Amino acid sequence: MSKIIPLAERSAAAVWHPCTQMSQLERSPVRAIRSAQGSWLHDEDGRRYLDAISSWWVNLFGHCHPAIVAALKAQLDQLDHVMLAGFTHEPVVQLSERLSVRTGGALGHCFYGSDGASATEMALKMSAHYWRNRGQLQKNTFVSLAQGYHGETLGALGVTDIPLFRTAYASLIRGSTVIPSPDSRTPDSEAISLQALEHHLEAHHRTVAAVILEPLVQAAAGMVFHSPEYLRAVAGACQRFDVHLICDEIAVGFGRTGSFFAYQQADITPDFLCLSKGITGGFLPLSAVLTRDQIYQEFYGEGVDRAFLHSHSYTGNALACRAALAVQDLFDQSDILAWNRARHVDLMRISQPLFEHPRVRQGRVRGMIWAFDVEFTLPDFPRRFHEAALAAELLLRPIGNTVYFMPPLNVSEDEFSFLVAGTLTVLEALGI
Ligand SMILES: Cc1ncc(COP(=O)(O)O)c(C=O)c1O
Repeated sequence: MSKIIPLAERSAAAVWHPCTQMSQLERSPVRAIRSAQGSWLHDEDGRRYLDAISSWWVNLFGHCHPAIVAALKAQLDQLDHVMLAGFTHEPVVQLSERLSVRTGGALGHCFYGSDGASATEMALKMSAHYWRNRGQLQKNTFVSLAQGYHGETLGALGVTDIPLFRTAYASLIRGSTVIPSPDSRTPDSEAISLQALEHHLEAHHRTVAAVILEPLVQAAAGMVFHSPEYLRAVAGACQRFDVHLICDEIAVGFGRTGSFFAYQQADITPDFLCLSKGITGGFLPLSAVLTRDQIYQEFYGEGVDRAFLHSHSYTGNALACRAALAVQDLFDQSDILAWNRARHVDLMRISQPLFEHPRVRQGRVRGMIWAFDVEFTLPDFPRRFHEAALAAELLLRPIGNTVYFMPPLNVSEDEFSFLVAGTLTVLEALGI
């Protein structure tokens, strides 16, 4: 009889896992997930985990939400996929129209890709190509924020400032000008950042195509917050110096920060808006870049060299767009953002014991993103915390010493209480 090899073992042998030193799987095997429902993942061994980070921030309304499942099943019977060059279909048209409405009609042209990094690439290329089409060929550099994260393809790494992901490939990357991060934990950091931006743009605006940032929350930096006022000041500087503003809402879009798009809290409109992750509710890969008509018109005309020729095979995939439409329906049917605002006081009360823990610093909340820093030296903290959290039925992945929650928007109060209590147990288990 042949021996049954556990799925985790087969995975370690055959699957090259992302963001992983594969040798560590000998000590900490991957968990094989058999099914998921709502906020919960269920593994092959009958254990469950509360997905408190929405599986890398993609899951918006819980796993296997019946409305999205039904929409996908219906779409499967009709149209799987058709290339978007020379063809179109109802889901991609409707999604583009509805996303435009979400921007108040300001960003009415929607270009599709497959993942977040490709959206970053598309926005950077569109910005530089726009200036080229206007005869300003020298406007082709970018400004980004310290600790910013925009994906890991080579172009996206050029505006990403996280050494862990970047260092090994530094020789392959065309960098950007990095200005200091606005970090709510450090007084004056917003003013310092703005001053650096103003100085750079004053001297170099003729060669700068765009500023790219993650509005309100630099997520991969460790949930680093800045204010809407800072964002508004950046937008103002971009306008004064005739430089594009790219808002990367791949992580923070679709209600995560309390408004539908984060930039809306600053009462601005970016030139480019990058979306992915929550766009399909965490079901299928899809990304999009939205832009305004004046930019679109610079590409419109005779000659293919003026056109934005960028393409991906799965651009505007019908199934992914159908899932995204089901997500839009869910936002329309229940005002989940208002519901979360209404229960904010309750959620804050539930998280209070955690924020009052003697080793917890800088407890911070924006919309449905919770974060705090653990003041304790423990070698290999993120991995050990992650392991201890799994033992407490929680999926958590700290970034450095920052622990954060980014659960589905419809996480229940009972689940949130379970999450807070479990996190306190994890701190205790680690001797913190
Ligand atoms: C702000 C931001 N931009 C871009 C990306 C890259 O997205 P993807 O991993 O889908 O390439 C991420 C991923 O975490 C992100 O948080």
